[in-house]
Amino acid sequence: MSTQVVEPGGPLVGRVQVPGDKSISHRVLMLAGLADGTSTIRGLSDGDDVACTRRIMEALGATVTEDGPCTLRVGGRGLEPANRTLDVGNSGTGIRLLAGLLAGLPFRSVLDGDASIRHRPMDRILEPLALMGAKVSGRDGSSLAPLTIDGGGLRGIEYRLPVASAQVKGCVLFAGLSADGPTTIVEDRPSRTHTEELMAATGIPLVRETDGPLERVTVKPGCPAPFDHEVAGDPSQAAFWAVAASIVPGSEVVVGNVYSGPARSGFIDVLARMGADLVHDPATGDLTVRHAGLTGTVVTPDEVPGLVDEVPILAVAAACAEGETEFEGVGELRIKESDRLATVESELGRMGADVRVDGDTLVVRGGSLRGTRVDSHHDHRIAMSCAVAGLVADGPTTVRGWEAVATSYPGFEAHLDALQGRG
Ligand code: S3P
Repeated sequence: MSTQVVEPGGPLVGRVQVPGDKSISHRVLMLAGLADGTSTIRGLSDGDDVACTRRIMEALGATVTEDGPCTLRVGGRGLEPANRTLDVGNSGTGIRLLAGLLAGLPFRSVLDGDASIRHRPMDRILEPLALMGAKVSGRDGSSLAPLTIDGGGLRGIEYRLPVASAQVKGCVLFAGLSADGPTTIVEDRPSRTHTEELMAATGIPLVRETDGPLERVTVKPGCPAPFDHEVAGDPSQAAFWAVAASIVPGSEVVVGNVYSGPARSGFIDVLARMGADLVHDPATGDLTVRHAGLTGTVVTPDEVPGLVDEVPILAVAAACAEGETEFEGVGELRIKESDRLATVESELGRMGADVRVDGDTLVVRGGSLRGTRVDSHHDHRIAMSCAVAGLVADGPTTVRGWEAVATSYPGFEAHLDALQGRG
């Protein structure tokens, strides 16, 4: 287990390019593997989660060649059975999306992952896949990974998501590519739209409609055409620098080329409401953030799908703000890479923050933070959130389990050094 020591220091100044968006990276690898021909992907996430999906697509017969840093050429031409268990590592997005893709392919596959993945709920995808006629079973008759999938023979369904989840939506839409007719997903609270955007961009017949308060996406069976895609920067990683620059006096940081599509920029709205000095230029994607005093706010359940991964780092912002911040309707955080309600409460609590969980609401009262030993709980976003909190603590903060950061942002430490003028 590795540790990282963060020293409070001077302002963060400069420009940084975060990794390519992780959600998009998984999906473009999968679509490129399904396509009949060679696709080019630039700016792919360099994190371990996406590397697992790449290796899985290769095990299924896609050819992947590197063509420069974070640039891949992926050749499809028919996927085939892998001769081994497919390891998604720590990636919930990987296992849920791939389960949908593999449910449509006429052979047996087994998907597994690390200890965290083996505890995360898969019933949310097993239910719609079963309605489609898929044969997917979990460990010892449960709905937990490893998942054994005997693919093929799917029927199209209409499915209303019981929870706002782009992973479940994506799973069903990937399965829908191999169904016998159209598949429709209905959402009450719109989640990120990468699956449908990318499918449409690769020529798959897909219709998106707004039906009163509901969003409907219908996909018809089909095969993506080969494509070229440049993956924009990951807003979930940009959020760490947005909060860091907001709370460290004298800071001014520009994060380049940040993705700005639906349900991904909620953290920008919340920080702006808290008084942050930040501008996201839609033309360049540049997110410019300067230090500013923050005040508490209320984040409502409707906002949560648009910032679900940013709650831990927004909790750090709240811990440095004046007054109280409430994050309502954040129960989904219990089933992320760690139970993030528990881990935010315990780790920021160790640093002296006033954090409590009240049902599905996370409440954070601003104050001062102390440097101490904290634990990532094998969760990349908890590790990076604690590191950012450490920038304004009264002494060094030691983050145990720092290796978790590599799942999404291997360059985080180097970027922090560069912004602190040590690069
Ligand atoms: C993701 C969707 C979100 C998010 C995850 C990535 C995706 O999960 O937490 O990190 O790429 O679809 P849910 O859709 O389950 O909320």
